[in-house]
Amino acid sequence: MCGIVGYIGTQKAKEVLINGLLSLEYRGYDSAGIAVLENNKIEVMKEKGRVSNLENIPGINNLSGTVGIAHKRWATHGRPSKENAHPHMDNSKNFAVVHNGIIENYSELREFLTNNGYHFLSQTDTEVVPNLIHYYFNNDKSDNTLNKFLRAVKNAVSDLKGSYALEIITPLYPETLVVVRKDSPLVIGKGHNENFVASDIPAILRYTKDFYLLDDNEFAVIYKDKINFYDVNLNIHNKEIKNIEWDASSSEKDGYEDYMLKEIFEQPTAIRETIGSRFRLGEKCSFDDIDISADYLKNVHKIYIVACGTAMHAGLVGKNVIEKLCRIPVEVDIASEYRYRNPIIDENTLCIFVSQSGETADTLAALRLSKSHGARTLAISNVIGSSITREADYTIYTHAGPEIAVASTKAYTSQVCLIAILGMYFAEILGSYPQEKIEKLKADILDLPSKIEAVLENNEKIKEFADKVYTEKDMFFLGRGTDYNVALEGSLKLKEISYIHSEAYAAGELKHGPIALIENGVTVIGIITNKDLVEKSISNIQEVITRGAKTLIITNQVLPNNNFNHVINIPETSELVSPILSVIPLQLLSYYISKNKGLDVDKPRNLAKSVTVE
Ligand code: F6R
Repeated sequence: MCGIVGYIGTQKAKEVLINGLLSLEYRGYDSAGIAVLENNKIEVMKEKGRVSNLENIPGINNLSGTVGIAHKRWATHGRPSKENAHPHMDNSKNFAVVHNGIIENYSELREFLTNNGYHFLSQTDTEVVPNLIHYYFNNDKSDNTLNKFLRAVKNAVSDLKGSYALEIITPLYPETLVVVRKDSPLVIGKGHNENFVASDIPAILRYTKDFYLLDDNEFAVIYKDKINFYDVNLNIHNKEIKNIEWDASSSEKDGYEDYMLKEIFEQPTAIRETIGSRFRLGEKCSFDDIDISADYLKNVHKIYIVACGTAMHAGLVGKNVIEKLCRIPVEVDIASEYRYRNPIIDENTLCIFVSQSGETADTLAALRLSKSHGARTLAISNVIGSSITREADYTIYTHAGPEIAVASTKAYTSQVCLIAILGMYFAEILGSYPQEKIEKLKADILDLPSKIEAVLENNEKIKEFADKVYTEKDMFFLGRGTDYNVALEGSLKLKEISYIHSEAYAAGELKHGPIALIENGVTVIGIITNKDLVEKSISNIQEVITRGAKTLIITNQVLPNNNFNHVINIPETSELVSPILSVIPLQLLSYYISKNKGLDVDKPRNLAKSVTVE
């Protein structure tokens, strides 16, 4: 949720830290802060609000130290304020800490430390950490060796319940930066005579492409010219380095006004790359990364797709595909519900977890729960080496490239595409769907990138519609079948970046209650792409027109002459993957409404890109 950055090397740490924080700003913007080792002491500078506020602190440009840590906060414990901003120090000002995650037992630890003479300056859970480190350090009567520092960190984190990615610096060991993680992401970037730390790869991609992905309960002592890794018992071990192919420029805006717009327009490429070489016409689908046998699949009596938010909406579309092609029942669950509702899982259940970031706390917990009940688990993620991918039995990646805007766009369409390919792969193993129909679906999927380009040509038209409706207070999205799934996603996008209240309904359900909300002048957006349901969908739209609604229809059908206010035509494709096209006008609509309202599209209020707390 929060974002952290660290640096140790020969450059001014402040520069690297601020650049990293700017890349991580989407992770939360309640406050920002840095701590740099400066003349044998820790210099902390922090400010409420955005990184730009931090940059304006007088004297910050004078920081010349080459070791430092930094943090971008999304508040959990304690309101957004300067005193609650990280880094936090212990009372002796010898240890500075930044933390991503939540310490669940912090009240207990605070009480323990208070009873031992410590006092607290913030309301955060984090402030117990530097003080606990100090407590253990002070009570260790051995010589002042580095091991003493590391042992103090280890003892402190053994007391913590919850999740954490921690960076710690101290002037007592000015040549080191210590990090540890559990259930919160942390990567270490290797440079030449300098090393970097961040909560995710894009933050430091401009400096290096060589990364170590820290495991849960793993510690690293980072020097400028080497990195030592330790397990939970502080035994040193070697670790494999990973080369990340992402292009640093793909995390920049490439001339677009906002990341979200750039990412919407990147969807043809994202889909092309996600399809990759996973199938060709006339050849069976294959995944290098998974090997599922017919024997296993025949015994799978249920598939769960578990995810949050937009990723869950992709799962809803995936359910249609898998059920139609494989005839295996699929249940789609919200991860935060699934993990507490005692779902029926056994070794014949396949659980699929969809997560762009691969770090969403509830999705990760749901995965662990499923594994503990003996289910096989398959992760669908966009981030190589993310926590979910490391714990799942199988992982397949969307290749959408880094998604920076908080509102997910290209990750959603890539997830839908990948689940459709997975459905075809399963169906080919099971022989559960006529091969010629699978070939037709493959052809439709291969055509998607050029059809997305055609949908994007409606950009101006959608902008004009946004100009007309951006002052509204409520909107409704209606659809049937997969169009309903898209309605849910369109409504979520509108809420999150435009702050307009909206509801999505299965069109046939409207008359069972929600139609009472339809009054003169309200905007209703109808999605009509399933040719078998055109007439029924039109009837439902007529019901709202009769009650005075203004309508925008997104369709790939030739509709009878009706009294709709606006129609956006999109290319036809299989209804199983039509959301990949029909969602795009809705993404653009939310984008332009948000722009018209003068809002920060990429960083909507109260939201963060990666939700690593429960
Ligand atoms: C909405 C959005 C969120 C995420 C959700 C899951 O635009 O981005 O609803 O989809 O927080 O995130 P991931 O996919 O990273 O698990």
